[in-house]
Amino acid sequence: MQLPWPALCPHCGHAIAPDDFDVGAPLDCPSCHAVFPYRPQVGRHRLIRWIGKGATGSVYLAHDTANGDIPISIKLLNPDRAHDALALWALLRESEVLSSFHHPNIVGFVDFGEIDGIRFLATEYMPGGTLEERIRNGNRPGQQEALHIGIEAASALRQLARHGLLHRDMKPEHILLGAQGQVKITDFGLCIGLGEQDAANDVVWGTPYYIPPERLKRETEDFRSDIYSLGATLYHALAGRPPYDEADPAKIVACHEAGPPPPIEEIAPHLHSSVTALIHRSVALDPEDRFSSYEELMHAFSWAMRHLDTEQAA
Ligand SMILES: Nc1ncnc2c1ncn2[C@@H]1O[C@H](COP(=O)(O)OP(=O)(O)OP(=O)(O)O)[C@@H](O)[C@H]1O
Ligand SMILES: [Mg+2]
Repeated sequence: MQLPWPALCPHCGHAIAPDDFDVGAPLDCPSCHAVFPYRPQVGRHRLIRWIGKGATGSVYLAHDTANGDIPISIKLLNPDRAHDALALWALLRESEVLSSFHHPNIVGFVDFGEIDGIRFLATEYMPGGTLEERIRNGNRPGQQEALHIGIEAASALRQLARHGLLHRDMKPEHILLGAQGQVKITDFGLCIGLGEQDAANDVVWGTPYYIPPERLKRETEDFRSDIYSLGATLYHALAGRPPYDEADPAKIVACHEAGPPPPIEEIAPHLHSSVTALIHRSVALDPEDRFSSYEELMHAFSWAMRHLDTEQAA
């Protein structure tokens, strides 16, 4: 996206119109040929480099200059979307949710505002990247780590559920990893309260791999819908492919009608039966067949972790 802050050459003052990818990269001044890095200041935050792209904007690593230059992550709403009611609603909702929750598995809120007509949301920076990057780079988690990720993410979702909220966009891109095994969930732009479903149900956003069958059928969702999406995320992390490998929502609906996803052990025969049973239960097509509470899920995942540890030690 085109950024509204010109890159001013520190030598001759020439202004260059930069875009996303220029942030942090060396720019060559067309007037005096000096080379300098483009690091615009957005409020109290200095952009350092581009780190990710979403449907409605871009995410950057930045330094919070009012707080000892600590690294943070900042999401800028694309100026093209400034008057897009859904995009705006998503960013406002995300800011509202993040600023009201303090939980070790929910990315921390830093700042929210508008500068030069660009809305932004700043959050704690997670240096380990996303689970999606791990999958894409061939560095998928092993069984124990996948269970650990499942328990930590479930703890965050349980906190939302206790406040009557559904995340509704659990997927590998939205699981952030720290430098020491921390797991935090992000992107609360589709988060809604239990009674709010109709207003938000008009559009199926993004890739449908992790969308629960009840949403595709426009049926009522509850906390078990987030459990499905978390289960599909872990399925992908463990098997290297999502439960239904179709990018078209209509085809996924047809797959759901045809029956449950391929048993994960057929794709990843090395997985322990205690782990595959948890994945089957999480991605059951009928919500009644999924875990009946986050406590039950976390308990079952912890038990499987201990079981794997004991087997490994023997
Ligand atoms: N706190 C963070 N630390 C490190 N990387 C992050 C952080 N937040 C976001 N990212 C990166 O930026 C990407 C996009 O972030 P996010 O999903 O929040 O944006 P989005 O615009 O809402 O995307 P979409 O709505 O299309 O899913 C993430 O998948 C991740 O790669
Ligand atoms: Mg996202």
